Amino acid sequence: MNVLGIETSCDETAASIVQDGRVLLSNQVFSSMNLHAPFGGVVPEIAARSHLEVIEGIIQATLLEAQLDWSAIDAIAVTQGAGLGGSLLIGVITAATLAIIKNKPLYPVNHVIGHVYANMIKTSSLNNYTFNSNQIKFPLLAIIVSGGHTQLAIFYDDLNYELLGKTLDDAIGEVFDKVAKIIGLPYPGGPEIAKLAEKGDPLFYKLPEAKLANQYDFSFSGPKTAVLRLAQREIGQDYNFPSFELKKYLNETQKANIAASFQYNAIKTITSKVKLAYNDFQPKSVLLAGGVAANQELRRQLLEIIPINRLFYPDIKLCTDNGAMIAARGFYQIKNQLRPIDPYKIDALPNLKM
Ligand code: KG4
Ligand code: ZN
Repeated sequence: MNVLGIETSCDETAASIVQDGRVLLSNQVFSSMNLHAPFGGVVPEIAARSHLEVIEGIIQATLLEAQLDWSAIDAIAVTQGAGLGGSLLIGVITAATLAIIKNKPLYPVNHVIGHVYANMIKTSSLNNYTFNSNQIKFPLLAIIVSGGHTQLAIFYDDLNYELLGKTLDDAIGEVFDKVAKIIGLPYPGGPEIAKLAEKGDPLFYKLPEAKLANQYDFSFSGPKTAVLRLAQREIGQDYNFPSFELKKYLNETQKANIAASFQYNAIKTITSKVKLAYNDFQPKSVLLAGGVAANQELRRQLLEIIPINRLFYPDIKLCTDNGAMIAARGFYQIKNQLRPIDPYKIDALPNLKM
């Protein structure tokens, strides 16, 4: 069964075809990131307009890459939420229109669950993808870490899952981006912080860890403010000093130590909660998902807790937003006999929860 997956929740316009939820036949992604970079974050109106301009071409390109025509497509899966309203709408309307005119069943997919299911893709006809051939087993613990999400969830099977914890304020990727901005690194800041951290001391600065009512929840506003305050202190200023001026006065050693200490502490917060969940729920597999899954310090710390044959993370190209993860999740919804949605009635759901 070939499922076409369409994803437009943020700044990536993506379409992919996945066979039986595990064979990647094509993966086309267009990012409007360079249009947002000057603003230091995604601008919703610009993202939506960009989706509208490129989505038709991306879907055509993905069919071409898979060397398939519409008769070989068995179903369409589309990101219904969560995400930016205008962006989601372009994907949902396009998918619904195609479902009607090509007469295909349409399946709405939760973006966050999609990220987890990127791990189910095990092989590809395309070059330059690497896959973990170990078998994924339930119950599985999912760690979803991206620019928009920080969540821990336990899946007992494809349809029965429980959200254990989530961030109460910023997402982990978002704080990487904000700390990067303070020390003058370009957007998106996650990979830049990771690179600079290699030159710094991860134990140089101590950062606070929030104590929360639910031990599985996260909060990153405290560490973010702590970074701002210590940067102001380092240059001999107080909390009145504007954050956008700091990068001019911090020297390279200070910046590297901030990057390393922030990364170490932020990742430690994630892994300490994973450790709790790993002991409480004894999952057979642990799946990393989302853009921050690319972070090497995260993988290093997780391997101190979890045996290597139980830890899974997708190829980097499937960590960030893509259509393949949506197609893969769509396949498992079909396999579990979930019904397709009426394409005349589907809505974009910006605040969709797990
Ligand atoms: O999953 P994603 O592409 O988009 C969302 O759905 O949010 O994640 C993007 C986020 C950005 O915040 C980026 O800074 C972060 O992932 N990121 C990283 C790394 N690579 C990307 N953060 C830390 N370390 C990395 N190596
Ligand atoms: Zn995402």
